Amino acid sequence: MTFSRRAILKSLGVLATVPWMLPRLARAAPSTRIGVIGAGWLGGTVGRLWVKAGHEVMFSSRHPEELESMARELGPRASVGQPAQAAAFGTVLLLAVPFEALPQIGHDLQRSYNGKVVLDATNPPLSGGSSPLVLQARANGVAQTVAKYMPGARLVRAFSCVDANVVESSGTRAGGRIGMPIASDDAQALQVAAGLVRDAGCDPVVVGNLASAVAFQQGGPGWRVHLTAPELRRRLGLPPAS
Ligand SMILES: NC(=O)c1ccc[n+]([C@@H]2O[C@H](COP(=O)([O-])OP(=O)(O)OC[C@H]3O[C@@H](n4cnc5c(N)ncnc54)[C@H](OP(=O)(O)O)[C@@H]3O)[C@@H](O)[C@H]2O)c1
Repeated sequence: MTFSRRAILKSLGVLATVPWMLPRLARAAPSTRIGVIGAGWLGGTVGRLWVKAGHEVMFSSRHPEELESMARELGPRASVGQPAQAAAFGTVLLLAVPFEALPQIGHDLQRSYNGKVVLDATNPPLSGGSSPLVLQARANGVAQTVAKYMPGARLVRAFSCVDANVVESSGTRAGGRIGMPIASDDAQALQVAAGLVRDAGCDPVVVGNLASAVAFQQGGPGWRVHLTAPELRRRLGLPPAS
């Protein structure tokens, strides 16, 4: 599915300046307890950056023993566990699992993530894939589909449209830190996410509500562009940051 950049932005009202879309972007708390659900390329990379920034991170997968040496190298602020343990540990969660795992995780971990800020980085497979879940994401938007399977989560789309390698080097990139589009229906969760995006070496760019995340899902104008924040704002038709 392809999207006309301007049509998407216009239909979502992203071109309008809505005050709540531009909350004051606070830094994250000095030390936040974060549970990483799916500590592979993306979850492992972002989680490592957060440990280095001073946060306590539990990295999880169904095979946590494979994560132990990484956690040892990171020191006492890093730990490993099963997804359920990380979901219970974190006051904030990062979801970075294959998209097809979403219904199961949404169901199994519901009691642990309920009411928590969940940064959702998941994407349907980039090519192919015709499962009912993928078809729903194409028809209704990725963020809306995740929201359906994660009832009670305070969802923020974040880290979803960037390469993990680019996030890793963003803080020291010659061309400047990358702008990270984020979107949520929850203004307070957006502020939490913005602080954690900064602590991962990127600059947050608030795009709008959860529905507006279509602007930076696959096929949208913000997908994998790796621009600086001012460049990204221009590309998405957002006003310059005040
Ligand atoms: N790689 C990137 O640059 C990047 C960038 C932006 C967004 N993303 C998105 O992030 C997600 C993960 O991508 P990735 O490249 O990091 O993949 P990956 O390296 O394969 O990591 C996936 C992680 O999820 C775990 N996992 C898989 N199935 C699971 C399940 N049913 N329950 C719990 N944990 C499960 C895996 O560990 P076990 O198999 O041991 O459980 C692994 O730790 C995808 O949705 C992708 O679209 C990736």
